[in-house]
Amino acid sequence: MKITVINGYEKHGVTYRLKETFLEEFRDKAEITEFYLPRDCPNFCAGCTSCFMKDEHKCKDAEYIQKIEKALLEADLLLFTSPAYVMHTTGAMKTMLDHFGYRWMPHRPSEEMFGKRAVIITQCLGAGGKSTAKDIKDSLSWWGISSIKVLSFKLMSDINWDKIPQKKRDSITNPIKAAARKALSTDYSRPAHTGLPARFKFYIIRMMQTGIGKTNPESADYIYWKINGWLDKVRPWKN
Ligand SMILES: Cc1cc2nc3c(=O)[nH]c(=O)nc-3n(C[C@H](O)[C@H](O)[C@H](O)COP(=O)(O)O)c2cc1C
Repeated sequence: MKITVINGYEKHGVTYRLKETFLEEFRDKAEITEFYLPRDCPNFCAGCTSCFMKDEHKCKDAEYIQKIEKALLEADLLLFTSPAYVMHTTGAMKTMLDHFGYRWMPHRPSEEMFGKRAVIITQCLGAGGKSTAKDIKDSLSWWGISSIKVLSFKLMSDINWDKIPQKKRDSITNPIKAAARKALSTDYSRPAHTGLPARFKFYIIRMMQTGIGKTNPESADYIYWKINGWLDKVRPWKN
């Protein structure tokens, strides 16, 4: 199996330790590709809207984005990690997610995403872990992913991993190991089930795209939906 990891920062801190704990279960069993932000996606979206209006390959940062996208699409399991920075995900993670706006369902979602499984690991000192996970989950669910496991923790102690009491460390790493074992035992030959919220969004946007086609048939998003057959009987999910 293949796992693609998006690390929301480059530091080898607590978040990194938690990510390593999750991956330990897969080390000799999976092909793991990791991206570290901002290193692997260093530039902000400039808001040129070329990706939305024309073609994602026209983005000034396409060399970074397309490399990440290829790894995301090839993976069976996606892992996103981030500490809470002022109650939200890191700026580096947000910057990367902005670049994937064109993959949101109202635009040109990837068919593969509807069958993917994802895990989000976040941690904070006291508050903001959940809102950090939500920042990431919002994008993943709008990309079409329904199977998203959130693992969010509050340290409520030192932020230096080695100084955190063993009991506290176990209370964090045990659920991560359990989630990793569950992920390892999943049958990835079967796409994940696409839930009702994703289907509902799809049908609303399908109506929207049908309307756009009447007034602006040259729209890149409309053409994409039409070519995929989504305005007819074809659906992006298999399960
Ligand atoms: C810039 C910055 C902002 C932070 N904001 C929050 C926050 O809003 N809430 C919180 O509980 N912890 C906050 N923290 C603590 C981190 O979420 C995290 O617990 C700590 O940095 C240890 O994780 P790390 O070793 O992975 O960096 C912040 C840390 C930094 C560096």
